[in-house]
Amino acid sequence: MASPLLWTLFLISIIFFLKSHAEQEDTPITRFQQYLRFRTDHPNPNYTAAVSFLINQAQSINLSTRTIEFVPGKPVLLLTWLGSNPKLPSLLFNSHLDSVPAEADKWIHPPFSAHRTDDGRIYARGAQDDKCIGVQYLESIKNLKSRGFSPLRTVHISYVPEEEIGGFDGMEKFAVSSEFAELNVGFVVDEGQASPGDEYRVFYGDRTPWELVIRAEGIPGHGAKLYDDGAMENLMKSVELISRFRETQFDFVKAGKAANSEVISVNPVYLKAGTASNTGFVMNMQPSEAEAGYDLRLPPMADPYALKKRIAEEWAPSIRNMTYTIKEKGKLRDHLGRVIMTSTDDSNPWWSIFKKAVEATGGKLAKPEILLSSTDARYIRSLGIQVLGFSPMINTPVLVHDHNEFLKDTVFMKGIEVYESVISALCSFDGVYDQVI
Ligand SMILES: *[C@@H]1O[C@H](CO)[C@@H](O)[C@H](O)[C@H]1NC(C)=O
Ligand SMILES: *[C@@H]1O[C@H](CO)[C@@H](O)[C@H](O)[C@H]1NC(C)=O
Ligand SMILES: *[C@@H]1O[C@H](CO)[C@@H](O)[C@H](O)[C@H]1NC(C)=O
Ligand SMILES: [Zn+2]
Repeated sequence: MASPLLWTLFLISIIFFLKSHAEQEDTPITRFQQYLRFRTDHPNPNYTAAVSFLINQAQSINLSTRTIEFVPGKPVLLLTWLGSNPKLPSLLFNSHLDSVPAEADKWIHPPFSAHRTDDGRIYARGAQDDKCIGVQYLESIKNLKSRGFSPLRTVHISYVPEEEIGGFDGMEKFAVSSEFAELNVGFVVDEGQASPGDEYRVFYGDRTPWELVIRAEGIPGHGAKLYDDGAMENLMKSVELISRFRETQFDFVKAGKAANSEVISVNPVYLKAGTASNTGFVMNMQPSEAEAGYDLRLPPMADPYALKKRIAEEWAPSIRNMTYTIKEKGKLRDHLGRVIMTSTDDSNPWWSIFKKAVEATGGKLAKPEILLSSTDARYIRSLGIQVLGFSPMINTPVLVHDHNEFLKDTVFMKGIEVYESVISALCSFDGVYDQVI
């Protein structure tokens, strides 16, 4: 009779055999796991292997591939499925290759192992933001092809670098390139966000960040003296006015009249003043300069001209010896002066088709939203092209940029089905949409 130890070893080796066998399987889930393991996290994303992987996947389903490097080492990968009428405006499905960093010691599974738990959770940085959609686009096209479906309009898929650090060497350059113009893009689907409930979230615009710095100058003086026109005094007046404006905006949110992303947020991020001493600050002196920095976020419908007037006349008026600088990190109006957002009513055929396609899979869309922050979609919208932000993840906690980011295998698989419906419906649209670009 064999010893219990030998039996145990025998069983363990069988378990290992089965386990490694399962990992060698080639399924949509294992392909998703493979893509998640590439180290495209900041601060040193390496795109080489991830791009090769995607090219292999694309070639296996006969999509044409093209890599464009606007900045060396930062590739934009473009896949194309040619439509039967390539003259019609095309569709573009975009995702970014990079991800934010992960603090491995704060995760229950290593963030680049793409470990799949018994209940189907796949843990990895990028699982939700946004490697899921990058693989789902390919898998859905693979399924459509295997069913013999062929598109009327050409379908492009793009994978861009550097989204998480502003897209300056990625989508910003791609969007204004001749290569992009040649695609003749009519409608774009880009990343969205998970939904904890059972309705898919969809985004039609995002907020534009402004970095505001206000500076005050004033008469310096003894700390003991009461006098007018000091720099601190001048700055504090502005700080109070800005705080009041902030409250007014926040009141709309608190009263349930607007979502957080629908108001102008203005948050103080630094204060700088005082005369330095060896031990800290000189306490008996009122300084001659003072400065404050603010993070502003403007929803698409905000009036940038009115806000600039308010800043010039109330928040940093020259009459109070104040100056200011605004760094606008994006545009609020396109070159024709239009608000940069995508219309989500039935006057927009793209929207109607998209909505019906999601509903055809048994899904329901939540009320369209403005994104609290911003994504690469802004570079495309500012060209006058419509973009919806959509990542099909329902009943999923929002874990973008958080520890223990995960996506359930069943949610990932359902997403492929949703894209099959969305891609096939959009690329079959034979109507005309007179869009002025
Ligand atoms: C990026 O990864 C590839 C292989 O995947 C490797 O050959 C290359 O040296 C890496 N680049 C850098 C800068 O580390
Ligand atoms: C790709 O093209 C080859 C050659 O035309 C064909 O045999 C193969 O079935 C195609 N594969 C797919 C997934 O379309
Ligand atoms: C602005 O600066 C001028 C010149 O230094 C000074 O006379 C005036 O009182 C200052 N006004 C305020 C509001 O600080
Ligand atoms: Zn993202």
